[in-house]
Parts: sequence; structure tokens; C-alpha cells
Amino acid sequence: MLSRHSPSSQALSYLSSRALPSPAATARLSTTSITSSRTLQQSRGLATVQDAPPPPKRTHFGGLKDQDRIFQNLYGHHGADLKSAMKYGDWYKTKEILLKGHDWIISEIKASGLRGRGGAGFPSGLKWSFMNFKGWEQDNKPRYLVVNADEGEPGTCKDREIMRKDPHKLVEGCLVAGRSMNATAAYIYIRGEFYYEATVLQRAIHEAYQAGLIGKNACGSGYDFDVFIHRGMGAYVCGEETSLIESLEGKPGKPRLKPPFPAAVGLFGCPSTVANVETVAVAPTICRRGGSWFAQFGRERNSGTKLFCVSGHVNNPCTVEEEMSIPLRELIEKHCGGVRGGWDNLKAIIPGGSSTPILPKNVCDNQIMDFDALKDSQSGLGTAAVIVMDKSTDVVRAISRLSKFYKHESCGQCTPCREGTKWTEQIMQRFEKGQAREREIDMLQELTKQVEGHTICALGEAFAWPLQGLIRHFRPELEARIKGFEEKNGGTALAGGWEHDASKKGKLIAPGQ
Ligand SMILES: Cc1cc2nc3c(=O)[nH]c(=O)nc-3n(C[C@H](O)[C@H](O)[C@H](O)COP(=O)(O)O)c2cc1C
Ligand code: SF4
Repeated sequence: MLSRHSPSSQALSYLSSRALPSPAATARLSTTSITSSRTLQQSRGLATVQDAPPPPKRTHFGGLKDQDRIFQNLYGHHGADLKSAMKYGDWYKTKEILLKGHDWIISEIKASGLRGRGGAGFPSGLKWSFMNFKGWEQDNKPRYLVVNADEGEPGTCKDREIMRKDPHKLVEGCLVAGRSMNATAAYIYIRGEFYYEATVLQRAIHEAYQAGLIGKNACGSGYDFDVFIHRGMGAYVCGEETSLIESLEGKPGKPRLKPPFPAAVGLFGCPSTVANVETVAVAPTICRRGGSWFAQFGRERNSGTKLFCVSGHVNNPCTVEEEMSIPLRELIEKHCGGVRGGWDNLKAIIPGGSSTPILPKNVCDNQIMDFDALKDSQSGLGTAAVIVMDKSTDVVRAISRLSKFYKHESCGQCTPCREGTKWTEQIMQRFEKGQAREREIDMLQELTKQVEGHTICALGEAFAWPLQGLIRHFRPELEARIKGFEEKNGGTALAGGWEHDASKKGKLIAPGQ
């Protein structure tokens, strides 16, 4: 584990030397052509001599070594300035990476297996390659990389750590990712509340301009590339890529219908790609150390190292870089000092930010943390924001609070989302008190299913999934509450939450209104 206290100067010098690429990686960057995959193949064994058996398949992941951590300054042990960043390997041979060209960078990103760190987990190499569509050279419009630094998903606190402590990773990432898309400039759309982060990042951009690393003839490569910061106004929906583009254009942040996709018609009508801060920031290290280096971590299709942000009822909430596919329990016990009161005191975990369905303890016991494993458990890795809840948690109230959040953040364009978020907020307020009928649990489930896939953006799913998770795993808790209300009030609540004797009492306002 990377110590969260100040390391000794000896340790620092060790780390700085390990953070720089090995001579082998340096040699990779010095050659001018991409190494042909054929030259990497082993020569065939003779018929009478058996080839060595393949290495045993790894079944356990985690325990990332310090020298394999991309974000060397996650805990702010050294400065965020250019000199310190260079000491830890940033901006090393960036010119050589740029000179390799877009096909080479994209092939390394594809080989790394990197999947978007913004939540959806789409393969980044493939996504970035959409910008280099047939005939793009003839198109004389500007082309943009848009970096999503909105980080609005409750529980998520990783991108802000990168911008605060390792801003040069992001600035260099903009240049490398931008080069792979032949972009003219990067716009970093940063959440308005991140004033400090925006200041640190702006300083890093300024330093990079002054050192000739970005701007005209970036790093002396002959490639011109600008980086701009745009501060948002703090709406969750502005994190959705098309809404973010609208907001950047100075309009209200309301998602656009797709198609056309941003790679065809994006920012200011120009080809654009929106990518998350973490996704962009890991690109230079992948290019320096090689796609296959990154791909060795985690399970197949889920490769790489990943920032996990763990909050809630743990002894030591933190953001930590770990290997993908690490067991959830190991992540919490190794880096967060365990669940408050011990593992057996665990009630449930939201594994990937507020929009991913909650998992009860029995699922968490053997859960591993990657895209596919969490999908198999009917949840998702999302932003890898792990929210831990011990037995003292009122899960119904917790999910009800999330419903309130989504209702507040719906932009109101589509009826299922606008009306659905409002209804579910009201229903959940009643469920908290048990003021409902049992069949309303199924009605709530049906409502969320009607919303899923029927909205312009994924906020529809984001508000539906936590409710589905609650019903899937904590239905008895909802039913017990309804029974409790019935006993306390001398009768079953009527549909819609009216008390059984509401008319006698002359109650006119519907419950939850
Ligand atoms: C309602 C909503 C909010 C989102 N908020 C963010 C966000 O804050 N940061 C982010 O990177 N992606 C966010 N996304 C995902 C983006 O739309 C987009 O998929 C992502 O930025 C792409 O980056 P990636 O390919 O690097 O994952 C959000 C999506 C939705 C539907
Ligand atoms: S799903 Fe919700 S947030 Fe997204 S466009 Fe529709 S109304 Fe707006």
C-alpha cells in the first residue's frame, strides 16, 4: 500500500527512479516504427520438443506495487509543479510519443485494454479512433478533446485528487490523447465548486505553456495544441457528455439526442470526444510503459490500475490506486482500515457511485471489483466510488435521499425522467415511514422499468437502478416498515399512502405532497 504519511527522502528517490520508464520502455519510444506483432511471436518449438506450458492463469488480483502506481502523488507528498512532476516521470519523452503519430498512440491504448473511467466503461482506444474517420484530413474544422472534470456522481472523489495533486498528468494526457485524435485543442470542463483544483490546474497549464510543452509546436514536435479550462456551474447533468458540450457552448446544460454523436458533431459543431479526467491522465504512462504493461493488471477485458474512492462507514476513507479486479473486501480492509465495527458489521455497499445498485453483505463477501464482475452481480463499477454502509444504516432512507438528489438534478426534458424522479421521490418518502401498501413495491419496480432506456440520457437509469437494487435485496425491510406503520396507525395505509381513516380525519392533501 502507498503510505499516506510523508515518505523518507530515500524512499522518494527510489520512487522517482522507479516512476521513470525502464530502459526497455525508453528504447521502445526511440524506434520510429511500431514494433510488428510478428517479431514478438515466439518461434515454434520442434515437433519432438514440447513448448513450455502457458503460465498459470491468475486468479487473485490486488496488492499493486508502489512502482506500478501511475498516480505517484495521490497523497500530495511532493509538489504539483512542473519540476516535481518531471522528477516523477511526467513529460518524459512526450515528444517521441507525439512523433509516433495517432495510429501508434491509439494502438497502444487499444492494447492496454483501457476502458473509460467516467462510468460507462467504453473501450477508450476504440472511442478515440472514431475521431479519425475516413477523410478527416480534408475536414478543415477545428477538432476538440473535451475533458470531463465535472465529477458530480455522489461518492466520487478521484478526478479532483488528480487535478489537485497530479495536474501535469492531466495536462500531458490532454496532449497525448489530443494527438491521438488529431485534436486542435482540449477544453477541460471543471465543476464550478472545484475552485482550488481549477487554480492548481491553471497553474500547471501556464507552466506547460511557458516550457513549450503545449501551445505552438508542442514539445518541439511540430504539433500545435492548446489547453483551456472552462468552469461549470455545478449541475450533475452537465457531467453527461452532450449536456457538457451544450454548457460549454454557453447554453443550458440539457443533453442532446444521439445520433449525431460528438465525434461527428460535437463542440461548436466540430468533431469532439468527451473523456474522463482519469482516462486522459493515464494515457501518457500507458504510451511510455506500453499497452501490454497496463494490460497485465486485472482480469481480461477489465485491465489496468484504477482509482477507487471509498467513503462511508470505514475506519479510514480514502482514494487509492489499486489493481482492477481486486476483491472488494481486500480493498476495504487493506486500504481503509476495514468496516467500522468489523466486516460482520457490514450491511450493504454501493460499489460504483450513487447510480449503481446497492449490494448486500452476502454479495460483497466474494465480490471482485471490475466492470464485468459487478455487472454479473447486477450492479456496476461506474466510477469505482465505493460507499460502505454498516448495520446502523437505514438503507431505505439512504436510497430515498438519492431519489431526492436525482429529482433535483433531472433537467426535465423527457417525461419519464421528469415525472418519474418526482414520483419516486414522493414514494420513497412514504416508504421511509412505511406509509404504503405492499403492492406499491411492485408498482415502484415497474415504474423504474418503464423509465430505463426511454430517456435522452442515462440519468433515467441513474435514478432507476438504486431503487431496483433496494427492492431486489431489501424488500423484507420495506415490507416490515409497511407492517409497522399498519400496527401503529390501526390499519393498512390506502393506495397512495392515505391513512386508512384519512377521510374521517378530513385530510385533503395527498401524502408526500
Ligand atoms: C447524468 C450523467 C452524469 C455524468 N457525470 C459524469 C462526470 O461527472 N464525469 C465523467 O467523467 N463522466 C460523467 N458521465 C459520463 C459521460 O457522459 C461520459 O460517458 C464520460 O465522460 C466519457 O468518458 P470516458 O470515456 O473516459 O469514460 C455522466 C453521465 C451521465 C448520464
Ligand atoms: S433523462 Fe432526465 S436528465 Fe437526461 S435528458 Fe431526460 S430529463 Fe434530462
